[in-house]
Amino acid sequence: MCGIVGYAGPAGSISDVSERPLSVVLEGLRRLEYRGYDSAGVAVVAPGASQVSSRKKAGKLSNLVELLAAEPVPVATAAIGHTRWATHGGPTDANAHPHLADDGKLAVIHNGIIENFAALRDEFIAEGVRFLSQTDTEVAAHLLAREYRSSGDLAAAMRATAQLLEGTFTLLAVHSDLPGTVVGARHDSPLVVGLGQGENFLGSDVAAFVSETRVALELGQDQVVTITADEVVVTDFEGRIVTPTTFTVDWDASAAEKGGFRTFMDKEIHDQPQAVAETLLGRTDAAGRLTLDELRIDESVLRAVDKIVVIACGTAAYAGHVAKYAIEHWCRIPVEVELAHEFRYRDPVLSEKTLVVAITQSGETMDTLMAVRHAREQGARVLSIVNTHGSTIPRESDAVLYTHAGPEIAVASTKAFLAQITATYLLGLYLAQVRGTKFPDEIAEVLTELKAMPAKIQRVIDNGERVRVIARWMDSRSVLFLGRHVGFPVAMEGALKLKELAYIHAEGFAAGEIKHGPIALVEPGLPVFVIVPSPRSRDSLHSKVISNIQEIRARGARTLVIAEEGDEDVLPYADEVFWVPQTPTLLAPLVTVVPLQIFACELASARGLDVDQPRNLAKSVTVE
Ligand code: G6P
Repeated sequence: MCGIVGYAGPAGSISDVSERPLSVVLEGLRRLEYRGYDSAGVAVVAPGASQVSSRKKAGKLSNLVELLAAEPVPVATAAIGHTRWATHGGPTDANAHPHLADDGKLAVIHNGIIENFAALRDEFIAEGVRFLSQTDTEVAAHLLAREYRSSGDLAAAMRATAQLLEGTFTLLAVHSDLPGTVVGARHDSPLVVGLGQGENFLGSDVAAFVSETRVALELGQDQVVTITADEVVVTDFEGRIVTPTTFTVDWDASAAEKGGFRTFMDKEIHDQPQAVAETLLGRTDAAGRLTLDELRIDESVLRAVDKIVVIACGTAAYAGHVAKYAIEHWCRIPVEVELAHEFRYRDPVLSEKTLVVAITQSGETMDTLMAVRHAREQGARVLSIVNTHGSTIPRESDAVLYTHAGPEIAVASTKAFLAQITATYLLGLYLAQVRGTKFPDEIAEVLTELKAMPAKIQRVIDNGERVRVIARWMDSRSVLFLGRHVGFPVAMEGALKLKELAYIHAEGFAAGEIKHGPIALVEPGLPVFVIVPSPRSRDSLHSKVISNIQEIRARGARTLVIAEEGDEDVLPYADEVFWVPQTPTLLAPLVTVVPLQIFACELASARGLDVDQPRNLAKSVTVE
């Protein structure tokens, strides 16, 4: 949460928003706005100016752009920009970043939380410093200015400041003494460097600068970076020079555009067949055996694993719940699924035989990162399933399996979810191969089924009109979602999508649980989605769900059923049926969740809500 952009390069020629440093930073903020949109601000340094120039405004980025049109900043050679998700202090103009030091010569932007800000602020107040905001960030501006006054070296001042701060932070700063320079520090919050020709970039993630360059540097923890037009210098917090790793971004800027769709979410729902196909691509050798190249854990270690714990948050955690069914079935290893923020506080039982699987689209979720660290401290191996290259969690894991969903811009997750589920299937099948719990031909059969999934997902999307019509007419204030087996996490994800996008009360239940309490919620007309398993699923799973539909329908519920094509048994009990192609039970979430995504997206759009940037949310949650 909070998006950060920095730029150092040649000045433009006109002092408006088309001037290069400012336009690069505003474009970067536009692409990072999914990280937070409570306020936005920029600071630029013009050669020869005695102070930095800053503009900031509460609300979305468009408010800042209007302000800049009315009150332009001078032509600059360095600029920083920030889009905020509020933590300390409400979403006001005063709390928007950048924050300036007293002399107006230095501006700072920040992502993270400075935990010792209150003590530091009291010290400054005792010295007569006046604070203009309620943020934790403002102390960093004063600290940095004080350190710079004593050393005259902004990078050294940044190192000294970083040592005094507790909590998590990415900080970027500009100073009017150094017109072509931006200095950044990274401690438990993200920061990547983009390498240009005669210009360089900083961003919370590569989306900030991918329209300018696809060559990037991965910064490590506790490092300070200085960029100018021609140079990037990285040190650790002690000042020792560090050589960071270079990587190339494997998607281009058009992947982060709407491509003719109304919203990013619409586009990302339509991207799903491709996201799954790309995640499956290149995972087998000539003999058809799975080869997960990025995995850096020895096969002997994987053979010794006696327990898997999946940790994740939000939608990624529901992908973890699906993984439990598949991995336990294929590999006969017990799998626990836990919300990452609950994990370390319960003192989980871990050993070197525990494989912890961290699932995260952003690779930056602080709750998940902290759980990863805890797991490794306890001796467990950590494998992360991540969509964003250059992010923190894969760096801190023993192994990584990348999903290839491309950039996901809408705050609520859709295509990353399907790609995460796909990656967990690959992991499950790989473990089954390594441990010999499935015959090679059985694994090959599932892989063939998996390769057929993109076309099936496409069919569900193509047949989405009926669910859209229902969504447009939906006027209920509450919706329930029921599912059994892998349909249960799908029900929870369907409910989460509706809460996130449409602000409607929604709950996902295990269908068998409804009679133990939630059925009391059912009243005439209440819409209830039911995910019906394949009639070919085992242990009369199918007929039990049909019974559950009857139970709620008898009490007046309006049943909206997701069922497999040809499943005539559901017809007598369904007010509406949304058909999905025939699919093996364990793979069904890849198709059954799609109508629920379309439903939530359409309902929210019909109500005039911003489906890409729902209220109060941020895509990358980098605070605990
Ligand atoms: C936030 C987002 C969710 C996402 C969750 C986990 O809450 O709004 O859409 O599922 O974080 O994010 P991650 O990047 O770790 O998958």
